[in-house]
Amino acid sequence: MMHKISIKVNGDLYVLSVEPWKTLNQVLREDLNLTGTKLGCGTGDCGACTVLVDGRSVTSCLTLAVEMDGKEILTVEGLAPAGEELHPIQRAFVEKGAIQCGYCTPGMELSALYLLKNNPSPSEAEIREALSGNLCRCTGYNKIVEAVQWAAKELKAEKSKSTRSK
Ligand code: FES
Ligand code: FES
Repeated sequence: MMHKISIKVNGDLYVLSVEPWKTLNQVLREDLNLTGTKLGCGTGDCGACTVLVDGRSVTSCLTLAVEMDGKEILTVEGLAPAGEELHPIQRAFVEKGAIQCGYCTPGMELSALYLLKNNPSPSEAEIREALSGNLCRCTGYNKIVEAVQWAAKELKAEKSKSTRSK
């Protein structure tokens, strides 16, 4: 039996009919063609599928789409909508050389966003802890940690600039 759900993804509203077994990851990638969200292990271990649901980080491979009715979802495509500048977290990953194959990157960036929204000045240990559910097989983690530190500074500078211009 199909279930009707209504979800907002990156600000756009979708009304979909989904099978009860379908995951959020499948809906994003297969039904909405938002393939920035990756599928790695499929068992909640690698973090490649991380998205934000109502502002909280979630492994989309373990989340049933039917549970998403009425929720707001942010994927990596929503960090920098087409035609807009990269998000500071994305710029940081580029600046710091924190990307090799890029498979882990969308999940890492969403986890980093979740961290920085809740803790704008994290220590190195807090960054490592926040990203501990996201595995990278390429870079080693030092560049990724440096990228999050860089992004934290950028976001704080942007915030104080916008506060001053009010
Ligand atoms: S694909 Fe979801 S945690 Fe690995
Ligand atoms: S850059 Fe390849 S898995 Fe992280």
